Amino acid sequence: MSRPDLREVNVSDVTIGRRPFLKGALSATALLAVPGRLIALAPQAGQASSGLADRYPPIIPEFPHILHGGDWSPEQWLSEPGVIDEDFRLMEKTGSNTFSIGIFAWSSLEPEEGRFEFAWLDDIMNRLAAHGFHAFLATPSGGKPRWMSEKYPEVRRINRAGQREPHGGRHNHCFTSPVYREKVRIINTKLAERYKGHKALAAWHISNEFSGACFCPYCLTAFRDWLKARYTTLDALNRAWWTAFWSQTIQSWDQIEPFESAVDGLNLDWDRFVTHQTVDFMKHEIAPLRSATPSVPVTTNMMTMFVGLDYWRFADVCDRISWDAYPRLHAEDSWKQVADMSLIHDMYRSMKGGLPFILMESTPSATNWMQTPQLKKPGQHRQEMLLAIGHGADTTMYFQWRKSQGSAEKFHGAVVDHGEAERTRVFQDIVAHGALLTHLDGVVGTTVRPEVALVYDTEVRWALMYSQGPRQTNPRTPFDKDYAQTCQEHYRPFWKLGIPVDVIESLSDFTRYRLVVAPMLFMLRPGVAGRIEAFVKAGGTLVLTYLSGVVNETELVLRGGWPGGGLRKLAGIWSEEIDALYPNPPQRVVPAAGNALGMSGEFPVKDYCERVHPEGAAVLATYKTDFYAGMPALTVNTFGAGQVYYFATRPTADGMLDAFTRGLASRLKLARNLAVELPEGVTVQKRSGGGRTFYFLHNCRREDQVVDLGAIRLKDVADGRIMTGKTTLAPFASFVLERA
Ligand code: GLA
Ligand code: GLA
Repeated sequence: MSRPDLREVNVSDVTIGRRPFLKGALSATALLAVPGRLIALAPQAGQASSGLADRYPPIIPEFPHILHGGDWSPEQWLSEPGVIDEDFRLMEKTGSNTFSIGIFAWSSLEPEEGRFEFAWLDDIMNRLAAHGFHAFLATPSGGKPRWMSEKYPEVRRINRAGQREPHGGRHNHCFTSPVYREKVRIINTKLAERYKGHKALAAWHISNEFSGACFCPYCLTAFRDWLKARYTTLDALNRAWWTAFWSQTIQSWDQIEPFESAVDGLNLDWDRFVTHQTVDFMKHEIAPLRSATPSVPVTTNMMTMFVGLDYWRFADVCDRISWDAYPRLHAEDSWKQVADMSLIHDMYRSMKGGLPFILMESTPSATNWMQTPQLKKPGQHRQEMLLAIGHGADTTMYFQWRKSQGSAEKFHGAVVDHGEAERTRVFQDIVAHGALLTHLDGVVGTTVRPEVALVYDTEVRWALMYSQGPRQTNPRTPFDKDYAQTCQEHYRPFWKLGIPVDVIESLSDFTRYRLVVAPMLFMLRPGVAGRIEAFVKAGGTLVLTYLSGVVNETELVLRGGWPGGGLRKLAGIWSEEIDALYPNPPQRVVPAAGNALGMSGEFPVKDYCERVHPEGAAVLATYKTDFYAGMPALTVNTFGAGQVYYFATRPTADGMLDAFTRGLASRLKLARNLAVELPEGVTVQKRSGGGRTFYFLHNCRREDQVVDLGAIRLKDVADGRIMTGKTTLAPFASFVLERA
């Protein structure tokens, strides 16, 4: 089994004038924040809902507006000062206010070892401040200077094959190298000392899209030390990794190598270590910044559902979460891809308990690294931005402000194109969006408080990837047994109903939710089973599926019947064995007559069928064919004051999950964002706080859609227009509304 390549590429597969503080707009919690560090404001996982903030402070405390702008690389234009002058003029026109600068500027800041040139950045920072703009000032470690790679080869990674990599592009430095860490400490200290107290400095943008791993001797030593701290003895490690298999027993710490491995526990621990070491490097980056600028928040831009790092561990060291969104909205039913993007927004909002996040990058136009860089159709840019805000973003920011004239991203969408900047459709879109944002100050700091959580857990995904069986999926995808896709499929029915969802990891607090949906909870991380049991016992509703409670945190199988680790008594079933399906012949399931969720008809299922035996659970649906026809395919069990639903099989498309979720939502009386029936492809989000509630209504389809609002009266925050009764939504129409 070869490992999927986890190194950085653009991995998106679904793929933001100074005014006085708004008096009375912020909660007491917020006021405590200024001038403290923002991390102190975010409710931590585990905090009861009563302790949650009603409204959070703006990202820039004295600037209570949606931040708008993006990545800007003036260092590429230093020989053409007229271009930079023009940029400032255009920035004003678009209502922009915040720019990420210096991300890849190391060789402009330190052209030779120890020779620093800050004059150009001083000028940019001063001019940003003069315009009332803000800087997300980057540390430049995302791209190292050539002189460094040449003089200190150790800063270049060694790859899985054991070869030192060439200088190459970017995001390719060793996270452990003492030289790299020292060079980062020096440049970060200089930046922090130079710009502390600068009017333009709003936040630190740490490096760029951390990713990848290094297999050099420094990293291997650090890995072994990390393992020693985790396992203490080799005996414990050998047991945890089940190394007697294929004569893999480890006799000395130095023998441990993370290259090709059939030892699942080793693979998992290597991935954990890579996250640990990347976070350790990030802490190293942050230390000089915190010391010079304790009240300036730090963030780093993350990537979609990136599988190479456990981003939840980053959340602990970031004051704000930020992410880069590059959706592919290509298919006939591209509303499904919008729903997938909603899930990711919800995950990044949930990472800090509802704290508004930063949409750090998005493209107003084509994404040149995609195979088919499609233009945004009229309305789609506005929709994408309002979708992000509706889910909790307090920024809409772009990659990139201006197209570079050369190199790899010269054709990547930007606000300012090579041709006539102001006359382009894209530029006009940005101007219109900037104007819309002037009506959204009230949204800043508001949040979403769902009753429902979906568990999407990166470590569970790793465990599924490394496990050979049951059933392989396409090894190139990577082969996580379609875990991420399955989470998306369980999320989508809620999106269709306009029911808000938090997207959490299995270590998160469940107690603030009424319903937790945990598809394919294959690996039970320490403590998870006990917290799940307490949640259900206290009256929570849990949805489990096939392949739950199968292995522990080192991928040792949980013996004694699945779902294991204590989940069996919760689900009230025993899963004896699991069948893998070819597409043909098809399998179907039939809901039981008079089932509590009101499901009827017949539903196709795919990929997995478990043969389960009820041990107290009621049967809600049974298999139609094969030798296990009549056996349970969906069950429900009462445990304590709660209930556990168990899908023994994987529904095809949306049919069964739609019917199931609709039934469950009505049974649990889950609150919808708007109590109206939404046509497929239309969704609504809601943000509340500070006594106001905003609705974000979207038609994500290419055709008109009609929504019957009945007696509900909504007012468009931009133009005051009232919506009520039967309302036609144009293709890709999006609105921000309040109750009239
Ligand atoms: C081969 C090998 C066995 C085992 C089986 C599994 O036959 O010899 O060790 O791996 O495959 O199918
Ligand atoms: C990533 C990077 C940016 C840029 C964009 C292009 O998000 O962070 O530097 O390369 O991709 O889509």
